[in-house]
Amino acid sequence: MSRVVVTGRIPDAAIEKLRAEHDVDAWQGPESIGREELLRRVAGAEAIVSLLTERIDAELLDAAGPQLKVVANVAVGYDNIDVPACTERGVVATNTPGVLTDATADIALSLILMATRRLGEGERLIRSGQAWKWGMFFLLGSGLQGKTLGVVGMGGIGQATARRAKAFGMEIVYQSRSEIDSEIAAELGAQRVDLDELLAVSDVVSLHCPYGPATHHLIGAEQLAAMKSSAYLVNTARGPIVDEAALASALREGQIAGAGLDVYENEPTVHPALLELDNVVLLPHLGSATVETRTAMAMLAAENALALLSGERPPTPIG
Ligand code: GLV
Repeated sequence: MSRVVVTGRIPDAAIEKLRAEHDVDAWQGPESIGREELLRRVAGAEAIVSLLTERIDAELLDAAGPQLKVVANVAVGYDNIDVPACTERGVVATNTPGVLTDATADIALSLILMATRRLGEGERLIRSGQAWKWGMFFLLGSGLQGKTLGVVGMGGIGQATARRAKAFGMEIVYQSRSEIDSEIAAELGAQRVDLDELLAVSDVVSLHCPYGPATHHLIGAEQLAAMKSSAYLVNTARGPIVDEAALASALREGQIAGAGLDVYENEPTVHPALLELDNVVLLPHLGSATVETRTAMAMLAAENALALLSGERPPTPIG
């Protein structure tokens, strides 16, 4: 039996799977585990099952000790983990790709529809109790048919978003580190372009790249200025890919038409200037938030931890 520390609440099925073989210490608090508590609890762990709200860095790995074998993140994004620090210590880090692709693409499409059709504004109007009636020019948005979606980062989630957008009649361009499978590109009619061209031609830009030093503020003042003034920006990836202050001023000045965000630069804080604006839809990081998806993510993280604890290859190691 090994000591397994779970840094936050995850679905019972995954806890039971881990408990069948190991000694599991799972944080049950309604709030996130605090840093001090986490540093104390990880001591002696051979596996850490981590949530994206916890920073897994050298200090934490050292607090765990040299017996630590695996950090299994319950997320596809792993910018909360210092992967080189894990590698230096012989710790394998894993994530949960694949199982949250559809749920996240659904939220990207939801944000595209909410932003372009001004659904948040409409909802707020009714709830505010203000008088309204149907009118020829009342709350007009823009349609998607024949418009161009620019996908930044064409991995699984980018492709799933493109597939949905195509069903809504959109044309697809994408920017990606590598060319995608030619059959998928043909099915989507997707054309690979560089970021400059993508920003210039897209009516909606949707971000699906991982966050890291290479993508910090990938979308800043200059890139926003390069977008069409009728275009929308959607971010379901990670907050710091976008310079939030620059986005707020582009939205305020009408440099772009609108935005839909599920992630924030300093989560859970939202830039106060964004809260003042009507042309941005704000969701509280719901990309993978379905019962089915969260269960699948936790089960996959448990499988990764169990595999490494028994000396086997984990299903989804990072890198
Ligand atoms: C959610 O944001 C994830 O990376 O899984």
